[in-house]
Amino acid sequence: MPIDRGPVMAMPVEEVSSPEDLHAFYKALFIAHGESEREAEEDADWNVKNRQRVASNNRFFVIRDENGSIIAGGELRIDDHAGQKEAYGGQKFVAPELRNQNIAAMLDAKGLEVAKQAGCTQVWGVVGMNSGAALRSAFKGGIVLRGVRNEETGQEDNPDCYYVSRSLVEAAGGPKTVTPADLVEAQRIRTINELQSPKAVLAPWADHALVVEILKRGYVGKWLALPKDDPSITEPMIYFEKV
Ligand SMILES: CC(C)(COP(=O)(O)OP(=O)(O)OC[C@H]1O[C@@H](n2cnc3c(N)ncnc32)[C@H](O)[C@@H]1OP(=O)(O)O)[C@@H](O)C(=O)NCCC(=O)NCCS
Repeated sequence: MPIDRGPVMAMPVEEVSSPEDLHAFYKALFIAHGESEREAEEDADWNVKNRQRVASNNRFFVIRDENGSIIAGGELRIDDHAGQKEAYGGQKFVAPELRNQNIAAMLDAKGLEVAKQAGCTQVWGVVGMNSGAALRSAFKGGIVLRGVRNEETGQEDNPDCYYVSRSLVEAAGGPKTVTPADLVEAQRIRTINELQSPKAVLAPWADHALVVEILKRGYVGKWLALPKDDPSITEPMIYFEKV
């Protein structure tokens, strides 16, 4: 049985493209990141003017409340590398007062649907190393932690973010989900020298250097385990499997 990931509500996800809707998308995004009304307005102005020219293949999705206000949004870019298509999941946000209710899952499901329809072989993105909510939410959508990248360049030099992806060329039923039994069986480590399990390990999420070392040894992260998943887990830990 998989870990309980909570109910996923069905809320309509709408694609937007008019300059007014894009402005509202960016304003809601910046407010979700803690900016004041005025700062968010200015940053939204800048983004609508400048970013669209640079990345015209970006698509924007929003969820609205009953008054039409944007409560969540996500960005998806489809890139074509000589016929090999992949989707990049860019900015994603949920209004602060509505977080931890699985709302991001609806944006993820829409992104996955659009990427599959476009013929992409994978969807990828970057997640801030200190953003536990973003990482756990991404894992819920079948995303796997694979390495580190630089947020600006997308390259491995000067890494400051985790690199995550999900293959879209996968077995029916999607990726295998982590179970409570997997967490119990995984070897728990605090230093890289303790790593012995050829199968699965759990390591503290806050120890980024250790996480990076585990990734370098051919493991991928599949879940951010919290105390509520298993009473013996006392701090957030990443569950890794060897690939
Ligand atoms: C990241 C974000 C989009 C997730 O949206 P959401 O709808 O709240 O996502 P979920 O409901 O799946 O909840 C996130 C999960 O993280 C967990 N979580 C929250 N804070 C956490 C923390 N500090 N450490 C670890 N886990 C945390 C929650 O418990 C929840 O898991 P649960 O439902 O199993 O309890 C939202 O938090 C957000 O808008 N953050 C600010 C913008 C941002 O960081 N965007 C991501 C850019 S990649």
